[in-house]
Amino acid sequence: MTSPILTPRDWASHPPYLSPGYRSSISRSPSLPLIPLKENLRNRRVPVYGADDLGTLDNDLTRNAAKNGEPLGERIIVTGRVLDEGGRPVRNTLVEVWQANAAGRYVHKADQHDAPLDPNFLGAGRCLTDNEGRYRFMTIKPGAYPWGNHPNAWRPNHIHFSLFGEYFGSRLVTQMYFPGDPLLDLDPIYQGIPEHARHRLVSRFSIDTTQENYALGYEFDIVLRGPDQTPTE
Ligand SMILES: [Fe+2]
Repeated sequence: MTSPILTPRDWASHPPYLSPGYRSSISRSPSLPLIPLKENLRNRRVPVYGADDLGTLDNDLTRNAAKNGEPLGERIIVTGRVLDEGGRPVRNTLVEVWQANAAGRYVHKADQHDAPLDPNFLGAGRCLTDNEGRYRFMTIKPGAYPWGNHPNAWRPNHIHFSLFGEYFGSRLVTQMYFPGDPLLDLDPIYQGIPEHARHRLVSRFSIDTTQENYALGYEFDIVLRGPDQTPTE
């Protein structure tokens, strides 16, 4: 038997599968006991992407879908490091993001929110981490949107993140939030995360990351395992 590479997840830092306040979790959560991933699958390395597989604008959401101008809204830079359970950088790993536009609307047929689409904004991007595990996106601050979970329900501003890390067993899908958002206190998805771990999903405003006369900066580190692991959404 090979020795485990990944330590077990700290499930006390993640939201329960069934969180009735988050209505969709009632139908999405498993009703039968889980089948643990076989160790040889969990610890299998994910495919490695090369820089050649990505387009030069893939991490610039303000330009990667522009048709006839710039997207509307507040330009922001979102950056941070991807770290493993020992705090070591996870290098050359794919980070994917998707988000609503500044008006709170996704480019998706299921999104019929009465807010305008932006012809110059798709809301999807990806990049590889560098040697320090750092990723960086230029984007537009996403708007809040209504989601029908309960009367007058609005999602806080957020950006969806997907990561694999180095192994299938370190896959993480989560959401990044913004500091000081009053909707966080009312959001069943955010509130479904154990209280001690919630702050790990809130980005930090950074004047050092902020680009003068151009874009505000936010820092958001992602830890794939260990005592400081980033919760799933
Ligand atoms: Fe969303």
